[in-house]
Amino acid sequence: MKGYYKEDPWSIIEEGFDPGMQEASESIFSLGNGRMGQRANFEEQYSGESLQGTYLAGVYYPDKTRVGWWKNGYPEYFAKVLNAPNWIGIDVEIDGKMLDLHTCELKEFRRELNMRQGYLERSFTVVVNEKILNISVRRFLSMKRDEIGAIRYGIKSWDYTGPLAFTPYIDGNVVNRDSNYDEQFWEMEKTGATEGSGYLVAKTRKSGFVTCMTMGHELHLNQKNVDAGAKVIEKPDYVANRIESRVKSGDEIVFYKYASVLSSMNQHPSVIVEEGEKLLRSAMETGFDLLFKEHSDAWESNWAHSDIVIQGDTAAQQGIRFNIFQLKQTYTGKDDRLNIGPKGFTGEKYGGSTYWDTEAYMIPFYLSTATPDVSRNLLIYRYKHLEMAIKNGEKLGFHDGAALYPMVTMNGEECHNEWEITFEEIHRNGAIAYAIYNYIRYSGDRDYLAEYGLEVLLGISRFWQQRISWAEEKGKYVILGVTGPNEYENNVNNNWYTNKIASWTLKYTLEALAYVKETHPSAYDQIILRAGFKLEEETVAWKEILDRLHFPYHQELGVFLQQDGFMDKEQVMAADLDPAERPINQRWSWDRILRSCFIKQADVLQGIYLFEDEYDQETIKRNFEFYEPRTVHESSLSPCVHSILASRIGMEEKAYEMYLRTSRLDLDDYNNEVDEGLHITSMGGTWMSLVYGFGGMKVKEGLLEFNPFLPSSWKALSFTILYRGSILKVNINKKQVSIENPGSEDLDLLLCGSMAHLRAGGSVVADL
Ligand code: BGC
Repeated sequence: MKGYYKEDPWSIIEEGFDPGMQEASESIFSLGNGRMGQRANFEEQYSGESLQGTYLAGVYYPDKTRVGWWKNGYPEYFAKVLNAPNWIGIDVEIDGKMLDLHTCELKEFRRELNMRQGYLERSFTVVVNEKILNISVRRFLSMKRDEIGAIRYGIKSWDYTGPLAFTPYIDGNVVNRDSNYDEQFWEMEKTGATEGSGYLVAKTRKSGFVTCMTMGHELHLNQKNVDAGAKVIEKPDYVANRIESRVKSGDEIVFYKYASVLSSMNQHPSVIVEEGEKLLRSAMETGFDLLFKEHSDAWESNWAHSDIVIQGDTAAQQGIRFNIFQLKQTYTGKDDRLNIGPKGFTGEKYGGSTYWDTEAYMIPFYLSTATPDVSRNLLIYRYKHLEMAIKNGEKLGFHDGAALYPMVTMNGEECHNEWEITFEEIHRNGAIAYAIYNYIRYSGDRDYLAEYGLEVLLGISRFWQQRISWAEEKGKYVILGVTGPNEYENNVNNNWYTNKIASWTLKYTLEALAYVKETHPSAYDQIILRAGFKLEEETVAWKEILDRLHFPYHQELGVFLQQDGFMDKEQVMAADLDPAERPINQRWSWDRILRSCFIKQADVLQGIYLFEDEYDQETIKRNFEFYEPRTVHESSLSPCVHSILASRIGMEEKAYEMYLRTSRLDLDDYNNEVDEGLHITSMGGTWMSLVYGFGGMKVKEGLLEFNPFLPSSWKALSFTILYRGSILKVNINKKQVSIENPGSEDLDLLLCGSMAHLRAGGSVVADL
């Protein structure tokens, strides 16, 4: 579908309506505000293919697990982000006919996602009984008041004179397409309506989350507010107002719908209706235009410290802004109970729960584009799940405080149920430890270790110690039966990446213990006591593992081996695959995939990316040149890591190719699945490939470093990052890089290999 959406630096634009693309566009044009999200479903009825999606942050349904053959250790349920009651609906009747873009005569159609101001707009022309009407609809979910959404539905009649009716409604009769047993996830609690307003309260079955949605409306005819009266329609799962009006040729009628969307995550169920109505009233008093102004101002300040400007390449510019926009509207970092699902608020797939994606791909983005509390909240989310991670470990036979964080979770409990992932893809535990290190390295907040970090590290390290076993013949410690990040191999022994992240965690935990003991002795004593940590015994065992853990390596090739048996596989290259057979996960049997050497996503290269400073350029290059040709990038998380490493070793074209692939993954639908929702978590990777890759940014021993280059087709690249209280503006052109420091603190940094002192209010420049 490359080229379907128009290239534009600030907007995604669809011109002309293709019903076959509707579900894809519903994903692409999604809106969110951290508290709720909405696919780009139409307000008026639509009888074509559509995936209705309204999502509330943190509200889930424990859908009973469905598997063919039960295995001990499987979780009972999969927590799904559920499709919530529909608050956007407005039926529109023109001359007694229901407006439906699937069946009506449509003349023109344009849909725009304006990323600068955060709104969705559709404009189209319909012909009803040979008369022409122009319709324009704008919708936004307020970033300022995150429980408010507003819609302006404008109709201009060219030559139509006759009746027009609007029926705004809230509909609780909604389902999830991915429901395991076709169950209804919501139970209706109550509805209420007056002329001009209505509400619906619903409760999730089993998990007991309550939502209250309220609505109100206003009608303007030729810019004058009119009271057309409303007929109330109330059913147990539906509430509506029907407003009948008339227009004549040349008239312009504007219908405003306001809604408040609350959930028991933030409001007590006993007052939820009252609170919802209060918020609605206040929004209506403010009015659409002012609400929009507040909202777009919030976007403006968001962009002020997260925008990236690319000159000379509109496709790349649009790609990065689309990624940043989606990330910022998915997670705002205000609430440590929330996290970022792989699809964010744009679809049902993956259950909307938390994966290792957050620690590996999202934290870097939020570290540099938001204040440290935002990433800290993501870490605290895991801290709060420590007890559950220990229980999860116990369920699988581990003991004494060994924590295995879930592969997929909503509230700390494991949801995933494929043995090769649930039980074997344990590298996820390491990503959680690494994120603590990464946060501290970037923010300088070392107290975090004493407050929260060390306890999590102890739990994870204890898990590694118990999961690692001694191989007598090898005379080495080994990790057997795992799945690495490359999910196209299961149950392998000594996945290099898993062994690497496990040993790194043990080493870092030893350092963290020493640091907290020295700097926060009383917190240290409490942590040791609480965890029942047998200092001498446990740390000696860790050191022993560190000395003798096995890392598969191929002497002749000089590369780290993905796993012990990797070279037993037939070595063929992805480029030799028949394009008709790709993606292989949609064409090949699973058995064939498992036996092939094809790699789904960065695996050894993921480890080299995380621990880059341990390897010289030659080692990175050898491993990259070995693994990249075998990688099919069938996970959205893959191209970004390859792009960063290609940047490091001077393979600029490859870095650029991989950058385009990650940044336009959804806009160009590389993986042929955007209709299911966007790849939100890989968007953090896109940002990394630009800032860490092209920008060459790193933090090493508390020192910020830039070593940039500019892709040959670009004229300039600039980005802004937040670093330890400073806002830095980095501008790269073909010849030079300059860094401005508009803040009030001086900063030392390493620029293109030389130390530079960046004065407050000043800038530094280096030649490329
Ligand atoms: C990837 C995982 C990832 C998950 C969610 C899978 O396809 O292989 O690494 O955590 O998607 O994004």
